[in-house]
Amino acid sequence: MRGRTIQTFTLAAILVVCVVIVLHVAHQTSYNQSTEELSPIPLHNTNLMQDQQLINRNIPRGYSKRKPEDTDVSLRTSADKEEENVSKINRLGVLFARDARDWAPLTCDRNRTLRQVSIKTKIGNFTFYVYDKASDDESVTARALKGNIFERSEIERFLDISRDLPLIDVGGNVGLVALQAAMQGRQVVAVEPIPENALRLCRSALDFGHSHLVHVINNAVSSSEGNVTLASDISKQSTRFEVARKSGWGFDSIVRFAILLDRLLEVVPFKRAALKIDVESHEGHVIAGAHKLFKEMDIPLVWMEWAHVKEKTEFGAKTILDFMQTYSMEPYDLMSGRRLHEKTYMHWPFTVLWRKTNFPMPAERER
Ligand SMILES: *[C@@H]1O[C@H](CO)[C@@H](O)[C@H](O)[C@H]1NC(C)=O
Ligand SMILES: *[C@@H]1O[C@H](CO)[C@@H](O)[C@H](O)[C@H]1NC(C)=O
Ligand SMILES: *[C@@H]1O[C@H](CO)[C@@H](O)[C@H](O)[C@H]1NC(C)=O
Ligand SMILES: *[C@@H]1O[C@H](CO)[C@@H](O)[C@H](O)[C@H]1NC(C)=O
Ligand SMILES: *[C@@H]1O[C@H](CO)[C@@H](O)[C@H](O)[C@H]1NC(C)=O
Repeated sequence: MRGRTIQTFTLAAILVVCVVIVLHVAHQTSYNQSTEELSPIPLHNTNLMQDQQLINRNIPRGYSKRKPEDTDVSLRTSADKEEENVSKINRLGVLFARDARDWAPLTCDRNRTLRQVSIKTKIGNFTFYVYDKASDDESVTARALKGNIFERSEIERFLDISRDLPLIDVGGNVGLVALQAAMQGRQVVAVEPIPENALRLCRSALDFGHSHLVHVINNAVSSSEGNVTLASDISKQSTRFEVARKSGWGFDSIVRFAILLDRLLEVVPFKRAALKIDVESHEGHVIAGAHKLFKEMDIPLVWMEWAHVKEKTEFGAKTILDFMQTYSMEPYDLMSGRRLHEKTYMHWPFTVLWRKTNFPMPAERER
């Protein structure tokens, strides 16, 4: 048992190292490559009407139309703007993406039979779609098939701390965080580049009663916009797709358009949100494209994976520390609530929570 654990751990450690190397090489090469030789996984459009009808029937309370005050011109302008975004995101539906020109709806294919699991969590009976077999996805699916949730206690803690805020989930995967946030009644915009993950996430939202709260954007997010190639070791499907070299690894490759996080301002229908970023060491690139978002929205909480990004020399710890300082956010240990010291960032935990100093933690709120 112990030997097995160590073996698994070693394997995981090797993987992480590979991933970091792959990403490092990839980011320098990804814009040189011709992506034409790679065909993206096709996304069908035939079910669009069906999905759209479903969405229109379910316009949420939070999205309901507000009548602007006739007397107040500035108020009317701001309410109109908000309403514009609300109707835009509702037109786009549960699953959509952006290319260099504009946003467009994608079909959340309802014909595919997907494997479903139900797991009891603190929030309730959590039902969602996973991959068919444990060997298809050794992180999320393998655990889910045994009734476990990947990073369960961290997710519970984050969902509790951020429970009063809508959620922007970058690296949504199959929806462990996004769908549970919806179960708390929160509005969610999730960004997920891998079509197979995005399909499971949008199908869970549609089939298990969250389609009025969840929107899924099937794009990559980076520090500049353009096509990027992502590759995966097939057995790590849901968590190990990376911006990667195009060939020679026996990986599946796909091309997705990378957007700046700032682009979300064009569709996000709320002014305040908690942000989660888990993008396999690409966190610095995501943050580098988020200045406008942080200026125009109130984002008092950011939960991010730290372990992979901290030692990168470009778009690494320095990029993130400078950014967070600019927006008056301080680093905390998610689980203990302990304030972390900027100088010791190489020793921070696997994930960190950034928060604005005036944002109340749950214990403080209840007092
Ligand atoms: C990609 O382009 C950059 C800048 O033009 C160059 O330094 C780098 O060597 C190129 N990489 C590859 C793999 O061609
Ligand atoms: C609506 O979208 C515009 C950009 O199209 C953005 O400037 C504005 O802040 C958004 N409004 C809300 C309420 O999100
Ligand atoms: C789903 O099934 C229907 C009916 O069998 C078919 O008309 C439609 O083309 C299928 N959609 C996709 C996306 O395969
Ligand atoms: C949980 O929800 C799913 C889907 O609605 C349902 O099939 C399952 O029976 C529920 N499980 C429990 C224990 O309530
Ligand atoms: C990105 O790739 C897609 C298909 O692979 C292609 O149709 C599109 O023109 C590319 N976009 C840009 C901006 O290069």
